[in-house]
Amino acid sequence: MRHLISAADLTRDDAVLILDTAEEMARVADRPIKKLPTLRGRTVVNLFFEDSTRTRISFEAAEKRLSADVINFSAKGSSVSKGESLKDTAQTLEAMGVDAVVIRHGASGAPYRLATSGWIDAVVINAGDGTHQHPTQALLDAFTMRRRLVGRDAGLGQDLAGKRITIVGDVLHSRVARSNVDLLHTLGAEVTLVAPPTLVPVGVGTWPCEVSYDLDSTLPKSDAVMMLRVQRERMNAAFFPTEREYSRRYGLDGERMAKMPEHAVVMHPGPMVRGMEITAEVADSGRCTVVEQVANGVSIRMAVLYLLLGGNESAVSQTRTEES
Ligand code: CP
Repeated sequence: MRHLISAADLTRDDAVLILDTAEEMARVADRPIKKLPTLRGRTVVNLFFEDSTRTRISFEAAEKRLSADVINFSAKGSSVSKGESLKDTAQTLEAMGVDAVVIRHGASGAPYRLATSGWIDAVVINAGDGTHQHPTQALLDAFTMRRRLVGRDAGLGQDLAGKRITIVGDVLHSRVARSNVDLLHTLGAEVTLVAPPTLVPVGVGTWPCEVSYDLDSTLPKSDAVMMLRVQRERMNAAFFPTEREYSRRYGLDGERMAKMPEHAVVMHPGPMVRGMEITAEVADSGRCTVVEQVANGVSIRMAVLYLLLGGNESAVSQTRTEES
C-alpha cells in the first residue's frame, strides 16, 4: 500500500498490522521521552482545507514523535483564497521537498485525485474528505474497541470478529460512519446503523451492515455504541427534525445507556455537541471512550506514517533499541 485513501482499501491483514504497530507506538507515548528516530530527515505537510482540532494536532504529534520535519498548511490565510488550485498548492509544497501529504478537504475524492493524478510523488494520507472517508478515524476507533472489548495484550493479532457495533446519528453526512462500516466489516464485526430516515444515505442497502430506526431495541445488543454529531453545516434544514425531537429519539442519555450491556462502551469521534446527540452525564461517564480515542489517534497515525514512510527495521525492534 503506497497511500491511505480509504478504509475500504485495507485487507484484514493490513488493518491488523496497523493496529498491532499502533500498540508498539503506544509504548513510545508511555515513555518519558516520546520520540523515535524513524522519520528523521523526512518532511510531512499537513494540508488542511477544512477545520480540525483532533486530526490535525494528532497527526502533528505523531509526525514529531517519529522525528519528521513538519509543515502545517491551513487553507485559511493561504493563497487558496486568491484562487490557487489544489494541484498548484500541492506542487508548490512538493517543490519544497515534501515526502508525505496529510490532506483534509471538503470535497469527497480530493485525496484520491492527489494520489492518482501524477501531480506529486509524495505519499498521500486522507485525513477526511467531504462525506466520503476518514480512514485513520476508523482505525483509531477499531484500536479503541479492540483494547476495550478484546484486551490490550490479548488483542494483538486479533480482529473484532463477532463484536456488535451500533453507529447512531447523521450517517448521511458522516465520513466516519462510512469508514467505520468498511473497516469493521473487514475486521469481522457486525454493524448496525441507527438514524432518522432522512439521515440514512440512499444506497445504504449495498453497505455491509444492518439499518434500524429504533435505538432503544438496538442498545441491549451492542458491544459499542458510536454516537455521531449532526453535521448541520452540510445539510438543508428540511433534512432535520427539531433538536428536541432528535435528542428524544436518537440522543444517548443516562437512562438509555443503562440499557447497554455492562461491558459495552460509548464512543464519539468528536467534536461532541453535548445535550444534542449525547448528554454530559454520558460524555463524562467512565463508559465513554472519547478522550481515549484521541490518545489512541496519535498511536494509530504514528503506525500509518511508519508503515507508509518508515525505515527498514520493524517498529518493535526500533522501539526496543530506543528503550535500551
Ligand atoms: N474526529 C475528527 O475528525 O475531529 P476533528 O474534525 O477535530 O479533526
